[in-house]
Amino acid sequence: MTEQRTLRVALLGAGSVGSQVARLLQEHADDFAERSGARLELAGILVRDPDAPRDVPLPRELLTTDAESLILGADIVIELMGGIEPARTHVLAALRSGADVVTGNKALLATHGAEIFELADQVGASVSYEAAVAAAIPIIRPLRDSLAGDRIVRIFGIVNGSTNFILDSMDRQGLSAEEAQRIATELGYLEADPTLDLEGYDAAQKAAILASLAFHTSVEIDDVYREGISDVTADMIEDARRAGSVIKLLAVCERIADAEGEAISVRVYPALISREHPLASVHGGNNAVFVEAEAAGPLMFYGAGAGGVQTASAVLGDVVSAARRHIAGGVGVGETPRQSLPTARIGRITTRYQITLEVADLPGVLATVAGILSEEQVSVATAMQTVENAGDATARLVIGTHQATEQALSDTVTRLAESSVVTRVASVLRVEGE
Ligand code: NDP
Ligand code: HSE
Repeated sequence: MTEQRTLRVALLGAGSVGSQVARLLQEHADDFAERSGARLELAGILVRDPDAPRDVPLPRELLTTDAESLILGADIVIELMGGIEPARTHVLAALRSGADVVTGNKALLATHGAEIFELADQVGASVSYEAAVAAAIPIIRPLRDSLAGDRIVRIFGIVNGSTNFILDSMDRQGLSAEEAQRIATELGYLEADPTLDLEGYDAAQKAAILASLAFHTSVEIDDVYREGISDVTADMIEDARRAGSVIKLLAVCERIADAEGEAISVRVYPALISREHPLASVHGGNNAVFVEAEAAGPLMFYGAGAGGVQTASAVLGDVVSAARRHIAGGVGVGETPRQSLPTARIGRITTRYQITLEVADLPGVLATVAGILSEEQVSVATAMQTVENAGDATARLVIGTHQATEQALSDTVTRLAESSVVTRVASVLRVEGE
């Protein structure tokens, strides 16, 4: 009987995700050996502080701060440190030394993906990153492999678990944003720097990765229009509830064709979704991604979008694939950014909007507001006065528009804010999913 090969696995990072990867690699070592055709030996785990207390107990002798030695002897390097440096340096060093790389680091891929994939192509190694988008949900492999024979038109969905958890907890349990964020942190959903989640950077990084794969074109973080959830207030969530909607942080990647030609639009922002829409039922830290392909039609991917052990599942799936490739030989599957479609500026995009205004509760106010919208070519679909405050003679006016361009909307909002009848533009939200 031939002896089974052993592959050395280096793990960079033992935080929420890395610690679970280490635990599962060791607990299910026999299963991994059977599935991949090699014994996967955890050679070491890179951390900042080997003596720091850890929620998941890890063998002290595996913990190290010596990245260079750990990477040099490895067949597979799993990068779960997060951030750009030193993660970028370690990933490039791993590829140069002939190792396959598995990473969950969307920040790194959305900013240095081209450099990393180019080096992987040169050396014939693989870079796998199923965990980088929508955590446990298989979405990278379906886009890269299963749908490689189709033409993707649009991707639309919730790709950030922590902000979904926060918005959902504010809506369903009436929690404050701060309380919901505290719980999301305890659950390991937030990035080490929570502004990445709250300001939409994390979702924008994921949107860039999805758009690159879907449209076979190179999309980087700077190509993505981004707004986060930090301006979403309890009042806005209440307004949405009254209108039969919820607020979700959405990522939209789509092909567009207009008078300026063909382009792609990649954007992330909080938007109103009808409570009837399937995305309204995506609760807690879950994600859901709709993919619309020309031949396949609409497809929906749903599941855990954050969390240590859930994400470890996606990481370990990539590790098994990398191990199989190592055993079988041959080069890694490269990326295919062959087209170079331009990215449309946000002003070109057409959407419906909901504008909430605090106005003076006086005759003629509605006519003045409607006049501004009409002059800017923004057509009113609905108008509703939701709250009156007799004390200071103000009212809350919620206006739903028909489709309008972002440019027309932005000009309208500037004029409304300057109008003497408008006390405050309380919120401007896009309406999606119709
Ligand atoms: P954590 O912040 O929980 O863990 C990071 C780990 O990396 C820690 O063990 C830390 O060491 C180590 N580390 C960080 N910087 C260094 C450094 N300079 N030198 C040595 N070690 C370092 O991150 P997560 O586990 O949450 O996330 C890891 C990656 O996975 C990120 O890219 C993240 O975006 C991605 N991801 C996370 C998900 C989640 O739900 N958490 C879901 C999907 C992807 P020490 O322990 O000593 O501090
Ligand atoms: N911070 C990320 C999120 C983790 O909340 O979605 C998963 O990528």
